[in-house]
Amino acid sequence: MREYLEIEGGFPLSGEIRISGAKNAVLPALAATVLAPGRYRFLNWPRLLDLYTMLELLSRLGARVETRGEILEVDTTSLEGVEAPYELVRRMRASILVLGPLTARFGRARVALPGGCPIGKRPVDFHTRGLKLLGAEITLDHGYILARAPRGLTGTEIVFDFPSVTATENLLMAGVLARGETIIQNAAREPEVVFLGEMLQAMGGRIEGLGTDQIRIQGVPELHPPEEPLRIIPDRIETGTYLMLPGLVGGEIVLRGTEPRFLKTPILRLREAGLEIESEGDTLYARPGKGLKPLKIATAPYPGFPTDLQAQIIALLTQARGVSFVTETLFEDRFHHVSELWRMGADIEQDKRTAIVKGPVRLQGTEVEAHDLRASASLVLAALAAEGVSRIYGLEHLDRGYERIEEKLASIGARIVRKRYETAEPF
Ligand code: EPZ
Repeated sequence: MREYLEIEGGFPLSGEIRISGAKNAVLPALAATVLAPGRYRFLNWPRLLDLYTMLELLSRLGARVETRGEILEVDTTSLEGVEAPYELVRRMRASILVLGPLTARFGRARVALPGGCPIGKRPVDFHTRGLKLLGAEITLDHGYILARAPRGLTGTEIVFDFPSVTATENLLMAGVLARGETIIQNAAREPEVVFLGEMLQAMGGRIEGLGTDQIRIQGVPELHPPEEPLRIIPDRIETGTYLMLPGLVGGEIVLRGTEPRFLKTPILRLREAGLEIESEGDTLYARPGKGLKPLKIATAPYPGFPTDLQAQIIALLTQARGVSFVTETLFEDRFHHVSELWRMGADIEQDKRTAIVKGPVRLQGTEVEAHDLRASASLVLAALAAEGVSRIYGLEHLDRGYERIEEKLASIGARIVRKRYETAEPF
């Protein structure tokens, strides 16, 4: 079934949106259920394609998955599988997050090498090198990573060339069951990594330094599920995406159930661009200021400006008065949204890893195709600002990371409908 979003843009949007649980927090948390048999319960879990893919992977490994109203329950008592098949890994590279836990728990794992994806090569050498340093034997077996550690893992010091988020998460999950002390230098500091670490602590893991670039882990012989249900932290990228709306279409929005402290840099930069943003508890208020100013911005690991908001801020800056420079420092090929924004009338030049955005331009509605998750969010923002009707194809990307996006946007006045077409590809 092929779907698309039909959006009629050019109207101010006002009202309240509730932010969902974070995709990039719930995925590692689900992988961590492999580490100890028993019943795990989660609250505020987002209904997203990627979550269902991870649940399918856990079921394939032998876990039992159930939802009771608001509670997502995963029981890994009879989990015994150690293989993550290519068909699931190709759908979601975050499947690699079971590599560390499987190796730590069972002494072996067979995980398909994730292919590249639309935003770049995305190697996994930090993951495999870290496991090797912990004593696992790693071989490449017909497109699968084969990890073996029949005598368990032994703690050691690991240094990352780059603070990789999922590599930090994989080695955190391996280290908690390794003998002795594991130190991860140049570790990722993202809130989603801290959330995973706190879950592992609730499971009996001994970890210090979460949220800093040096994490120290004292291995323990075994872990147990957390006593209490775990509440998934709010999605800071969903928040940041909606926070930009008043700069694109006008109106005042309220984002509830979020965590403003996770967005310090995006909020600072959006204020610098002229948006009026206030925060109070778990709520953010945003309204247009006196016109948008251009920015010079570069993506960086947390707490810098997130690469996952890069496509969205480029859409916003098409409305700024002047020339903006947006540099993508993490991924080598994460500007696919630029060519689609051109088709809506944006004036953007790409110079290697920097997009030069000239504004303000009047965006015009048209048919566009999304190639990756955050590019699709950027096209939704642009379509809401564009004059006339847009059709956005490639929703399989969008639905991976934005829960009920058309419902949330329609609730603040957007003219947005999800439609299906039976015919062949639209073009
Ligand atoms: C996580 O991906 C996120 N995904 C990504 O979000 C996010 O864009 C990225 O971190 C950066 O913040 C999840 O958390 C599930 P990395 P991850 O390892 O961990 C290089 C989204 O839209 N690298 O931090 O895969 C890599 O090439 C997704 O929600 C290696 O060289 O990103 C890249 O240049 C997209 N070798 C840089 O590190 C490795 O072994 C950052 O990658 C691993 C990474």
